[in-house]
Parts: sequence; C-alpha cells; structure tokens
Amino acid sequence: MQQTGELTVLDRAFVQDPWSVYRRLRAAAPVQRTVMTGGEPVWLVTGHQEARALLADPRLSTDYFGVRALLPGPAGPYESPLSAHMLNTDPPGHTRLRALVDRAFTGRTVARLRPRIEQIAADLLDRLPPDGPADLIEDYAVPLPVTVICELLGVPAADRNDFRRWSKAIVSSVPPDVARESARSVSAYLTALIDAKRVSPAGDLLSDLVHQSGPEGALWPDELVRMAFLLLVAGLEKMVSLIGNGVLALLQHPAELTRLQTSPALLPAAIEEFLRYQGSIHIATVRFTTEPVAAGGVIIPADELVLISLLAANRDRDRYTDPDVLDLSRPPGAHLAFGHGPHYCVGAPLARLQGQIAIGELISRFPRLALAGEPGDLHWRGSLLVRSLSALPVTLG
Ligand code: HEM
Repeated sequence: MQQTGELTVLDRAFVQDPWSVYRRLRAAAPVQRTVMTGGEPVWLVTGHQEARALLADPRLSTDYFGVRALLPGPAGPYESPLSAHMLNTDPPGHTRLRALVDRAFTGRTVARLRPRIEQIAADLLDRLPPDGPADLIEDYAVPLPVTVICELLGVPAADRNDFRRWSKAIVSSVPPDVARESARSVSAYLTALIDAKRVSPAGDLLSDLVHQSGPEGALWPDELVRMAFLLLVAGLEKMVSLIGNGVLALLQHPAELTRLQTSPALLPAAIEEFLRYQGSIHIATVRFTTEPVAAGGVIIPADELVLISLLAANRDRDRYTDPDVLDLSRPPGAHLAFGHGPHYCVGAPLARLQGQIAIGELISRFPRLALAGEPGDLHWRGSLLVRSLSALPVTLG
C-alpha cells in the first residue's frame, strides 16, 4: 500500500485488500483526505453514519459534467457521454427520469419473473461439469444475470456476449482507448436496437420506454440510449458480484453454508448479510460538494470530490457487532449496499430475487460445493467501483 506523505493512495494493492486500510482509516477519522492513483485528491468516507448522511445530502452532486470538470486527465467511465445517465444526474432532472423506470422494478412486477429466473438458473446448473472444476463467475454468475437483464430489456440472445464484453470494459480499469471504443460500440448498438423497437415494439422494457407517453413525458433519444445503457450495465455487473461474493463468503464460512443448506428459509436474510459483508459496489458513484459540507469532524470545501465507501461503511464497528464476521442470522439493519437517498438502487427487488434463486439453487444442487485452490490465489478485478472476483474456481463434488 502506498502512502503519499500522510495520505493513503487508493491503488491496486488497496483494491486487492482494502480491509486493513479501512480499519486504520476508520479508527483515525470517518472522513479524511486520500489520493487516487493518478494523484487526484479526494475525500474518502468510511463511517456508516457519515456515509448514510452524505448519500442523501443534496449539497453533494453526482452530475456528470460537474464530476468530469473536476477530474484531471483520463476520466475512466466519464470519458463517454453515455455516462451522463440518471445516476449521474441530480434532482429535479433525476426525479423525472426515475419516475419512468420505477414502476418496472416494483417488488410485485419483479416477482412475476421468478419462474423464468429459476428456469435460467436450472439450465445453467445442468451445464456445469459435475466432475471437474468450474469457474463460477464465467460459467454461472455472468450468464445468469446477462440472460435475465437482456430478456427483460429485449436484447436479442445473439448479441449478449458482445454486450457483456463492452460492459466489462467500461466498468473495469482498462486503458482509456479500450474503454472509449467499448462505449462507442455500445452506443451505436443501443441506438440501432432502440430504432428497431420504435418500428416494431416487442413487449419488453425497452419497447415500453421507447413508446412511453405517461404524465412524466417521454424520454429524448439520447436519454433513452443512456437509460438503456445504465439499466444493462447496472443490472449485470453488480449481480455478477453478488453471486460471486456471496458464494465465496459461504465457502469461507462452512458452518454458515451448512446452516443455509439445512434452513433455506434463511435465504432472504443471507442475501442481506452477503451484501453487508462484501457487497457489489466498493465505492459509490463519485460525488462532489456544491458548497462546504461538515461531515465526520471536518469541513469539506466546495468543489471537492467525495468517495463514499459502501464496503467500509457496512463494516463499521460503531454500527455492527463483530462486523468482520459473516452471520446469517444477524438482526436486519439497513446496510448501504444498495445506496441511500434519491439514487437508492432501482433494481434492488430484482437483485434480491436473482440472488436468492442463484445462490439457493446452486447450494441445493451441489451440497459439496468447495473452493478449488487457495483463497490467497483469488484476484479482485481492478475497479474501485465494482467489488468483483476475476474468477471463482470451485469443485462441485
Ligand atoms: C446486487 C446487485 C446490486 C447492487 C449491490 C446495486 C447497488 C446499487 C447502488 C449502491 C446504487 C446507488 C449508487 C449511488 O448512489 O452512488 C444503485 C443504483 C442503481 N441501480 Fe443498482 N445494484 C444492484 C443491482 C441492480 C439491478 C439488477 C438493476 C436493474 C436494472 C440496478 C439498477 C440500478 C439503477 C438504474 C441505479 C440508479 C438509480 C438512480 O440513479 O436513481 N441495480 N445500485
């Protein structure tokens, strides 16, 4: 782990093992200055109370153009105008966009997808090699949500692999030209797909959004492409992490795995605990202060970037007893893995349902599931945004 003077650098070593750094930082102060690998100064929030308050604070903005202006040099996902989507838009613009998609993801609407998601999971489990090792990420955690979100939005089956490749490049730390090229490809693809749905609606969510004419008004063509992009990427990459991180947590806590196998009714609580213990999003969407903001004993001046660590907040000792222990019967308490405030995850009901089906079906089909190889060999993808394993080799037994 590098230090620049007193400041911790959020570098590759930090992504591989953020926990010891978080314990040290949190013990010192819940909000403090750090630097990104390129030397950019940022405020890092690690306390649960401070993170919750700042996620809902209207003086912090996620506005795409505002963040872009504060990022010197290559700006990762902010290089592409595709990123000027709902998550990177402040109210009141955000409120209008959010109303258009909220109803597609209510608990009741999503519950209707259960039989189809169970079918997709069962088909994928049928194809896993019972005698040989499998990579649970590429063979299960990726294809399941790819199929679910693409079917929901109406992306044809033949195009789904391309889509996954682009989306992975956009949310990972890849060279800027690779990310830019992926963003261009995805934008051209979605524009053509939306044009096709304008001519022939197909009863999917994208067709509904194209033909929407409710009280909130229709989406402009650019807004539509960005919304489709956000839903596809958000609906995919974080699900891969929930399945991968949840299964890893169980494999590293065999007593909890046995407990879940013998009491499947614990599944909904288990999903919440996986999300708290090691959720899908490491650091929330980058925000900046629009005026000075007092938090955790410091004053963050106006126009400074703020990184809110959901991973750190969800293991805050002041909020949770034994936060580093996976406990499937932990009393329910609002973790921050789905965020908080106006940008609270619109897909949370779908994520919970898919997580329960994916992990529940896997551990009931393969009761002797085990890690193939040493935990120390596991590698986390080099992203400060998504907390996701590159691969999860398992034996099915
Ligand atoms: C385990 C899975 C998931 C996790 C942990 C997760 C987490 C989050 C978090 C933390 C945010 C807020 C980010 C912030 O405020 O900086 C968010 C927003 C969002 N999520 Fe999820 N998400 C998951 C799955 C999904 C799924 C399946 C969808 C479905 C399409 C989805 C769609 C969205 C959208 C559209 C937003 C933006 C909401 C807004 O700006 O109002 N997410 N998600």
